[in-house]
Amino acid sequence: MAFPTETVYGLGADVFRPAALAGIYRAKGRPADNPLIAHLAHRDQTAQLTPALPHAASVLMEAFFPGPLTLIVPRHPSVPSIATAGLDTIALRMPDHDLALAFLKACGTPVAAPSANRSGRPSPTTWQAVASDLDGRIDAILCGDPTRHGLESTVVDCTGGQTVVLRAGTITLEALQGVDPTTVLLDRPSALSRRSPGTRHRHYAPDAQVVLVDHPAEAKATQAAAYIGLTPPSPQTPFSLHHICTTLEAYAQALYGFFRMCDAKGLRTIYCQRVPTDGLGLALMDRLNRAAKR
Ligand code: TXA
Ligand code: MG
Repeated sequence: MAFPTETVYGLGADVFRPAALAGIYRAKGRPADNPLIAHLAHRDQTAQLTPALPHAASVLMEAFFPGPLTLIVPRHPSVPSIATAGLDTIALRMPDHDLALAFLKACGTPVAAPSANRSGRPSPTTWQAVASDLDGRIDAILCGDPTRHGLESTVVDCTGGQTVVLRAGTITLEALQGVDPTTVLLDRPSALSRRSPGTRHRHYAPDAQVVLVDHPAEAKATQAAAYIGLTPPSPQTPFSLHHICTTLEAYAQALYGFFRMCDAKGLRTIYCQRVPTDGLGLALMDRLNRAAKR
């Protein structure tokens, strides 16, 4: 069943039911080597999922749960291996979203949930986007509002001596370092794909070609092209569709919905303005770079 969170919609199943978890992989067309995030209603569910919470994880949990942060910790032997794609670690997250928390509480068990999109597509930020990817392939959608943040949670590995960001996300590197100064960004691609299998796969991409620009004047505006960014294009530029965001937060919130709107209109090119890679810009540029990669 799909449900909203503060980041993107998730597709959930009981983390202790392997057959239900297999259904998630099937519905999404998700590669079997890409592990799922276990979502919690209460911090005390942690003990069911990990035999030993690393110190760094408990510090970050205290600071950021509930919130858009996912912590990688050792996996409890009673968790089915399909939940973690065979890894001996598990991802934990407690969403900061009233409807999500009510749903998770009613489930009475931790809920494994990837983003509720067909594998490779942009994550869904509305229930309509979930329906357009998965209608007929899943049991139900818990319909909420469009998601508040629009980009996925930050994934942080707490199983080594050092806290390592595997996927940039809504909680910024600077915010993590404010709580755990040892936090670093893992940016070597080979190490990254070994430690976070999901980052190996193509992700977050619309059907249209994504082209990154520093300024809208660089774009070849045509009726088959769209533009999203912070700087408005000149009024004479004939983009078929454009979306001007007044803040980085608004850009992050709008991006995946804009990608989907462009695909629905059959546009061929989406020009996206680059942003500086500090704060939320790190996650935004990560997604833009992935979407632009063919
Ligand atoms: O905001 C979010 O995180 C959303 C909402 C629904 O919570 N979920 C989400 O899930 O984005 P998904 O499956 O699309 O992305 C999960 C990421 C993947 O890159 C996956 O490889 C990584 O987390 N991951 C999960 N378990 C892991 C583990 N044990 N070790 C390393 N990486 C892991
Ligand atoms: Mg996903």
